[in-house]
Amino acid sequence: MLPAMDARLEALLDQLHREGVDFDAGRADRRERRRNLEPDSARLLHLLVLATGAKRLLELGSSNGYSTIWLAAAVAANEGAMVSVDLDEGRLGEARANLAAAGLEGTVELRREDAGAALSGSPESSWDMVFLDAERPAYPGYWADLVRVLRPGGLLAVDNVISHADEVADLRTLAGADRRTEEALAPTGAGLLLVTRLARPRAG
Ligand SMILES: C[S@@+](CC[C@H](N)C(=O)[O-])C[C@H]1O[C@@H](n2cnc3c(N)ncnc32)[C@H](O)[C@@H]1O
Repeated sequence: MLPAMDARLEALLDQLHREGVDFDAGRADRRERRRNLEPDSARLLHLLVLATGAKRLLELGSSNGYSTIWLAAAVAANEGAMVSVDLDEGRLGEARANLAAAGLEGTVELRREDAGAALSGSPESSWDMVFLDAERPAYPGYWADLVRVLRPGGLLAVDNVISHADEVADLRTLAGADRRTEEALAPTGAGLLLVTRLARPRAG
């Protein structure tokens, strides 16, 4: 088993986070920013991967690989593997270089792929964990596939549910109403919605 985190990796992640904040500060267009996860949220997701023993993880929205490295370090310690998708070839190139600097390139398959296509192309129950961090208006359309592709007992995490509550409201309504899932809000960073697929649907 690999160590999940060490001082060198922590230093690299600190550097990436600082660079990301500086990079984003100079860009008015949201789509040009890296929009990396808050470090506290990244640390919480890392811990959840370790605690749940997730070995098959799908990330939707890689950007330059900041969250990917946090997740991959834990997946590698669990002796698993992950896929991370993004539409932006430039960002994926940066993610590839950052993962190599972290020594985690063997743990992550980076793909230029639409999040919806990655979900619809995933078999039933194929992921232990899914991290959703892409374009929020599309999220409600992903719901049916999100539940389908998570294994029972698997975990879905969605970022920005406090910072952009109105944009994630429809997804939260779906998650709250669905008897196949249970959800909780972790008020960490920009707010993480955590959803698990139940082994047996709740009684109505
Ligand atoms: C908030 S950023 C992801 C940040 C990243 N998770 C991190 O913490 O470092 C959102 C990313 O989603 C990508 N994206 C937007 N729409 C997408 C889609 N439909 N499919 C895949 N990626 C998408 C964007 O190119 C952008 O890099």
